[in-house]
Amino acid sequence: MADQWQNAMDHAVAIAQKAGEVVREALRGDRKVMTKSSSIDLVTQTDQKVEQLIIQSVKERFPAHRFIGEESVAAGEPCDLTDQPTWIIDPIDGTTNFVHAFPFVAVSIGFCVDKKVEFGVVYSCLEDKMFVARRGRGAFCNGEPLKVSDQEDIKRSIVVTEFGSNRDPDAVDRIFSSLRKIVCLPVHGVRSAGTAAINLCLVASGSVEAYYEIGIHVWDIAAGSLMVTEAGGVLLDVEGGDVDLMSRRIVAANNRAVAGQIFRQLDAFSPPRDDAL
Ligand code: IPD
Repeated sequence: MADQWQNAMDHAVAIAQKAGEVVREALRGDRKVMTKSSSIDLVTQTDQKVEQLIIQSVKERFPAHRFIGEESVAAGEPCDLTDQPTWIIDPIDGTTNFVHAFPFVAVSIGFCVDKKVEFGVVYSCLEDKMFVARRGRGAFCNGEPLKVSDQEDIKRSIVVTEFGSNRDPDAVDRIFSSLRKIVCLPVHGVRSAGTAAINLCLVASGSVEAYYEIGIHVWDIAAGSLMVTEAGGVLLDVEGGDVDLMSRRIVAANNRAVAGQIFRQLDAFSPPRDDAL
């Protein structure tokens, strides 16, 4: 059966590729760094330029579609997810990596209808890996199907997490206490790529068993979350309920056994929701 969103998905892949070229080019030159909510919440002109490039090209092709973009929200646009077709864009996921030339940087484009992610595109620009997931039709990296790890024991797993940009002492204490419990289970290892989108693709690829974080935003995880479920994995809230993409909390794992062993270690907290921004 023909896919209703095939044209939109093809467009997302093409524009992510083009955005990746802009990011790679910018990495060869000077990067002017600005800050947003705090001195460690970074943004560059490239983030803004890439977001505009994506939004402009989608508007020309799909004028009725709506947008949630990281930099547009930072500039005061609402973060409203309605039932209308909506593109959720992180022009550079891993901005801090980009600023420091730490080589994991992604363009992330999720596409939602009726508040469900229909497709997700994550382009890992420096690895030149194009991850694409389509609801009900699988997840792929450079055309190769993705499948999560079949490990069921957290003690034989690698777990990915991030410190994010929240330096509120209570939040930092909870992040460290959760991490300590996970390290001491013990797990085989803990890693951070510095981009939520790539972390989710690592789960989808079977390279790690789980990723969790409190403090991410909907644009960091919209595309990558579908990558995980289409590769056979699961998503949960950090307290074990259903994931809510606006809640800024996620556990993504290869299966329910591992996800359960993760969320039970976490000292959960609730940052302000994205749709309350
Ligand atoms: C950030 C990255 C990082 C995660 C932060 C995100 P940005 O996104 O995904 O890995 O720890 O929570 O905000 O700001 O680089 O788009």
